[in-house]
Amino acid sequence: MHPDRLKWNRKHRLTGPGSKPSAAVAQHVHLARPGRALDLAAGNGRNALFLAGKGFAVDSVDISDVGLRMFANRHENVFALCANLETYEITANRYNLVININYLNRRLFPYIQEGLVPGGLLIFETFLNLPGFEPQKPFSPEHLNHLLKPNELAFAFPGLTPLICRETKVPGPGDPYPSALLVAVKGEADLRVKKTEHLSSTDPSSGGSRCGCKRK
Ligand SMILES: C[S@@+](CC[C@H](N)C(=O)[O-])C[C@H]1O[C@@H](n2cnc3c(N)ncnc32)[C@H](O)[C@@H]1O
Repeated sequence: MHPDRLKWNRKHRLTGPGSKPSAAVAQHVHLARPGRALDLAAGNGRNALFLAGKGFAVDSVDISDVGLRMFANRHENVFALCANLETYEITANRYNLVININYLNRRLFPYIQEGLVPGGLLIFETFLNLPGFEPQKPFSPEHLNHLLKPNELAFAFPGLTPLICRETKVPGPGDPYPSALLVAVKGEADLRVKKTEHLSSTDPSSGGSRCGCKRK
């Protein structure tokens, strides 16, 4: 068995089925057009079930069959795919929404872009390596390679227009941990951006700017 499957099967058995979706997904899903969504590293399905409840048809990919079994049959619009994202091929031009929460696989960056239809939305949030940050098991990745570098997300998707890009500490089961968030749209931003700019200027956690990361 693949070592990642072994490791994550064990973790998912311990933590059990998901309940609340990620705050980033819940707060920004309204910026996506309805249709087909892709949940990368879907875990125990907390986000996939939330998106299905919002009317999306959700392809949910994860290496852990234990995690997938916790939600695969809980909504008719959730399609669970047990696959290794180290080699998985994302179908081009298919998704109105791609989410990637608390998982990092840099190989996927260009394929995520291609997988979005024009106007499609990406919500990408994961752990960030800041000086002094010590990941806490079992909630944070142990290896530095699984952590974003400061400002990395701002450059990762050159074909997308960022609506929100910020690096901040978010509440966790232990101490707040550093995390980076990118919400971006494929191609030119449309009216949704104006709405986001307005929202972010009143949102203290965003620092009041449209894109908090530095993009050259
Ligand atoms: C921290 S969990 C995040 C789960 C989910 N995105 C969430 O926010 O609840 C990381 C997930 O990545 C999955 N994963 C790790 N390595 C993987 C790989 N090579 N291929 C596919 N999934 C993988 C694990 O099984 C686990 O469910």
